Amino acid sequence: MRVLVTGSKGQVGRCLVEQLQNNVELLAVDRYELDITNRDAVFRKIAEFKPDFVINAAAHTAVDKAEEQVDASYAVNRDGAKYLAEASKSVGGSILHISTDYVFSGNKLGDYVETDETGPLGIYGKSKLAGELAVASANCNHIILRTAWVFCEYGNNFVKTMLRLAKDRDQLDIVGDQIGGPTYARDIAKALILIMNELHGKKSDTRYGIYHFSGTPHVSWCEFAEMVFVQGLAKGLIEAPEVIPIPTHMYPTLAPRPTNSKMNCQKIKNAFDIEASDWQSAIKNIEEYVS
Ligand SMILES: NC(=O)c1ccc[n+]([C@@H]2O[C@H](COP(=O)([O-])OP(=O)(O)OC[C@H]3O[C@@H](n4cnc5c(N)ncnc54)[C@H](OP(=O)(O)O)[C@@H]3O)[C@@H](O)[C@H]2O)c1
Repeated sequence: MRVLVTGSKGQVGRCLVEQLQNNVELLAVDRYELDITNRDAVFRKIAEFKPDFVINAAAHTAVDKAEEQVDASYAVNRDGAKYLAEASKSVGGSILHISTDYVFSGNKLGDYVETDETGPLGIYGKSKLAGELAVASANCNHIILRTAWVFCEYGNNFVKTMLRLAKDRDQLDIVGDQIGGPTYARDIAKALILIMNELHGKKSDTRYGIYHFSGTPHVSWCEFAEMVFVQGLAKGLIEAPEVIPIPTHMYPTLAPRPTNSKMNCQKIKNAFDIEASDWQSAIKNIEEYVS
């Protein structure tokens, strides 16, 4: 099986490479090896390598910067995704594309299911939703995996930021009224690989489509921070700061965020027997997150 991974130096990209490198014929490319906004380069790379699956882990993920970098966000999150899906189609391959909880407004009371109406609040979410639609319209066999609140030992993420801030702050004000499911990037990679193995050689499988995959239990950012500090204290890494829950309006950001990011992960469980990410276990080795 030949697999092309884009965005190979990102959080999910690195986890995919770790888990795939000895098991498939892998071509993993970072943005310098394949800029997905370059249509010709995308088609050339895919025509040469002829991957059975493209896994698109590349994205413009800077949620606030996206408000000012509108063209760049759409170029990567919509156009890049579209080129990859169209080029995959041209060689008879499939695409696994990653999307986000930010395609929703966050106004729903319960957990979001795959068929719920979208309504992104900011440019990042709007460009990711445009990417989903572009992938779906390319008429290529596709999986769109919507995930949320991604973290791991690599890159920049909330867990690493909390550990860094804990070193010199006695008190931290953290948003307490946005709720979601922190998701371990290694679990995202594992889920994508499992799906890929299940679908390999099955061009007309009815399981292609959109899935939600995130962590459980759902918590607020404030509760997530507290769990990080509990682990940090247990390992003697930090003196934990006092965590003060604040409402979203007291932490103004350029991009608005959904209040409710809770995603229902039953569909992926039913179709592929994949359990939601166990983020609490994933931070037990908290020492690995200290940079
Ligand atoms: N992070 C989250 O909390 C979160 C939440 C929900 C969904 N997601 C989705 O999950 C997926 C993976 O996210 P992640 O956290 O692994 O993101 P990440 O760590 O920011 O990785 C994204 C990678 O894409 C690369 N990239 C940017 N522009 C590119 C281009 N034009 N061509 C090729 N590569 C390019 C980035 O390179 P540079 O670093 O050099 O720019 C980076 O290595 C994305 O689809 C994201 O939208 C993430």
